[in-house]
Amino acid sequence: MSDTTTTTSTSTNTESWGSRVGLILAMAGNAVGLGNFLRFPVQAVQNGGGAFIIPYLVCFLLMGIPLLWIEWAMGRFGGKFGNHSTPFILDTMDKRKFWKYIGVFGIFTNIAVAAYYCYLESWTMSYVYHSLVGTFRGMDQNQVAAFFVNYVDITTTTTGLPFEAIIFFIFCVILNTFILSRGLSGGVEIASKIGMPLLIIFGMFLAYKGITLQSGKEGAVYGGSVGLNFLWTPQFDSLWNPKVWLAAAGQIFFTLSVGMGTIQCYASYVSRKEDIALNAMSAGWMNEFVEVVLGSAILIPISVGYLGIDKVVELTSSGGLGLGFRTMPYLFQQWGVFLGAFAGVAFFGLLFFAGITSSLAMGTPWMGFLQDEFKWSREKAAFSFGVIVLILGTPTVLFFNEGVFDEYDYWAGTVSLVVFALAETILFAWIFGMKKGWKEITDGADIKVPDFYKFVIKWVTPFLLLFVFIGSLIGPAGGDWGAAFSSLGSGNGWLLDNGSIIAQIMNKGLKEQIAAATDPAVIATLERKITYINGAKLLLLAVFAAAAYLVYLAYKKRIREGRFS
Ligand code: TRP
Ligand code: TRP
Repeated sequence: MSDTTTTTSTSTNTESWGSRVGLILAMAGNAVGLGNFLRFPVQAVQNGGGAFIIPYLVCFLLMGIPLLWIEWAMGRFGGKFGNHSTPFILDTMDKRKFWKYIGVFGIFTNIAVAAYYCYLESWTMSYVYHSLVGTFRGMDQNQVAAFFVNYVDITTTTTGLPFEAIIFFIFCVILNTFILSRGLSGGVEIASKIGMPLLIIFGMFLAYKGITLQSGKEGAVYGGSVGLNFLWTPQFDSLWNPKVWLAAAGQIFFTLSVGMGTIQCYASYVSRKEDIALNAMSAGWMNEFVEVVLGSAILIPISVGYLGIDKVVELTSSGGLGLGFRTMPYLFQQWGVFLGAFAGVAFFGLLFFAGITSSLAMGTPWMGFLQDEFKWSREKAAFSFGVIVLILGTPTVLFFNEGVFDEYDYWAGTVSLVVFALAETILFAWIFGMKKGWKEITDGADIKVPDFYKFVIKWVTPFLLLFVFIGSLIGPAGGDWGAAFSSLGSGNGWLLDNGSIIAQIMNKGLKEQIAAATDPAVIATLERKITYINGAKLLLLAVFAAAAYLVYLAYKKRIREGRFS
């Protein structure tokens, strides 16, 4: 490169993918995660079922696909200079020095999400175990729900094993660390080649059961079609509700793993002539198939079939994450002892495979960074990732009920993605420029990328992202922009939604609850929550600052070693 301020690495990182099939399965495994089976159906229900689907699909086409191409192209481009994590991938794309600090998001997000995601993943392992040994046999719906409550409350030991949640969490982190230490082709690829097919088979079986559920058979009250119709009957009036759009955009981000720095990292290990345009589409559409077909045919049809729409809506309104854990083990029991146990293993096993192929992906940017910049060995880098996840994840285990888990999910798993995606899209489309950018996307491609997307990437995606970002920052109460503007106009100020970024920084929702509460015990609990949540915020901030400092050190080191080109 002629640009004198661009540093290149002399990375000793010689990792690469073993085969194209392995690469695509790993990429699809990265995308297909707990988000597809647990988050998607819950988001859809919370946002009115059919009301959610159109914004969701539009976001996929206008934001998801462009971001996939952008990130694959950025990754392969950075990989040519020996850069495998976003700080220095972004650094190679423009001469301004601050981009590498924007790139810190691509390390921070993965570490912080891995911390709580591995905990969630460990629940699925435990539930496989309990399905196998028949813990749920003979329990009624309330008992199954109570089991979950006891599980995440680590002060009780009523689930059968002492400190069960902690033990499974540690085991899960060790397993991830071990696979990561074996590298991409020797570890991640093998896990994906085993996990993805099994996931599809288990998913097909459960989707078949979900779709063919009949009222009056096996204790079901409604047929599978009731839940499916609820999800898939489009409601066009929702198109005018920004809140639904924000939720849809958020889900597209989370499920495709865009805005996280993980795709760039994986793509930086492909060979220069790899057809990234096609690979991006294969992995992206595979994710959508799993989400839209399998993800919508399991949790909702089955839980609606037994509990009815109203009950399911009610269950998801109080944080939907647990829905699958609080209901499914009970519902599977209705299919008899053998099939019930099998369905439990299939469902939680599927979740486990979906989870682990994603959490492995989260480990790779940090490892790539250490290998590139500080010449760490793969094993040492993997080990350090395990230690960090263990430390950072422990508060989400111990203080789950204090809201620490959700706080991580909000900042690292939601807000960061939008911020980073917006920044990288501006860099790619406007600074790096669409001329070079388009060449990077289409170089080596066997498929013809529609020219339409040249326009979309430059003019549609950045503005949609800006809209999503502003909406998240100052989203009005209840998503009602009209009311918020008229309140502003009449001098009563902006009505901020408690889920907006600004309100979350100030813990507005919890403070309102405290103001409304009269019972001193309730007030004390809420105040305790605020303390823990603020602690979580500071911790995340410290992680970001530490990662930024390491990037700074790496940069100084590059200068010292004269690694300019
Ligand atoms: N896409 C995954 C899911 O649907 C989540 C995920 C994968 C992720 N890689 C990530 C989240 C990296 C944050 C960072 O569950
Ligand atoms: N927070 C969401 C809820 O409770 C669900 C969710 C967030 C989720 N992050 C996730 C589900 C990761 C699975 C994986 O409704």
